[in-house]
Amino acid sequence: MATAWPTFKTINLKIMKILVATEKPFAAAAVTGIREVVEQGGHELVLVEKGTKQDMINAVKDCAGLIVRSDKVDKEVFDAAPQLKVVVRAGAGYDNIDLDEATKHGVCVMNTPGQNANAVAELVFGMLISLIRNRYNGTSGTELKGKTLGIHAYGAVGRNVARIAKGFDMKVSALDPFVKDEVMEADGIIPVHSVEDLYKNNQYVSLHIPANDQTRKSVNRTLLELMPKGGTLINAARKEVINEEDLAAVLEARTDLHYIADVKPENAAELEEKFADRVFFTPKKMGAQTAEANINAGLAAANQVVAHLKDGFNRFQVNK
Ligand code: 3PG
Repeated sequence: MATAWPTFKTINLKIMKILVATEKPFAAAAVTGIREVVEQGGHELVLVEKGTKQDMINAVKDCAGLIVRSDKVDKEVFDAAPQLKVVVRAGAGYDNIDLDEATKHGVCVMNTPGQNANAVAELVFGMLISLIRNRYNGTSGTELKGKTLGIHAYGAVGRNVARIAKGFDMKVSALDPFVKDEVMEADGIIPVHSVEDLYKNNQYVSLHIPANDQTRKSVNRTLLELMPKGGTLINAARKEVINEEDLAAVLEARTDLHYIADVKPENAAELEEKFADRVFFTPKKMGAQTAEANINAGLAAANQVVAHLKDGFNRFQVNK
């Protein structure tokens, strides 16, 4: 009689390399946590912080997983990485990753939605309060209480902005064609159905749209001109969604308007020189740069990479 061998699940014992390549490093505690997740998953962590793209290319060649932030992952990187199976953008926006190339190379790309949203939302108010208190120069400023705030896109960041704004007792409305009115209403937010109304009826507009083919340069002269007297546009999303020539022209024509943004526009020097009191830009993208956000997004990214390498986890895949 033939021996009845017990059946075993196939266990993948192959140690793979997972590269974390971040020009803007995670907080040390986040790196420690990422290392733990990677090593507990049976893999090896390769860390390239503050490196160039070439450093990423050199390091990725024998890696199966890659974790990045806003770091560019394009054809050159995919071509250099024949063993790469998964890229996770530790954050929300994945406009830095060439999705078509990823798909051509058979690589799964995921983001970590919501993990750094509170940090970005808090910075919106950090920048805004600094502006309306005249950067604490001793002169009289204004308050947020009772003022109108329009949120352009009601995703994870937009929702956190709304929650905080309600704490300031602001009147909050939001535009998002992908979110049902009932969802906003349940949060105490007034749904808006036209982008023109959003810009026309709110003293403050906070931008949270992604940068893609539909949205690039979409915040243009027409919208900016609609803003009420003394209006402020806050951009903690991407500089690419603003038409920067239009922005300069409207700031020139409307001496009452303000623009504050998390990361400098291409024409920052011109805007800062001409409109010093009415613009503010972070020198480096700072929205998600908190220990908490780094830990949340970094650990989520590490867990997603390990789970993908183990059993094909793809819940947050963006190149389907
Ligand atoms: C995001 O898209 O998650 C934010 O813009 C944060 O980007 P960062 O990781 O480069 O700080």
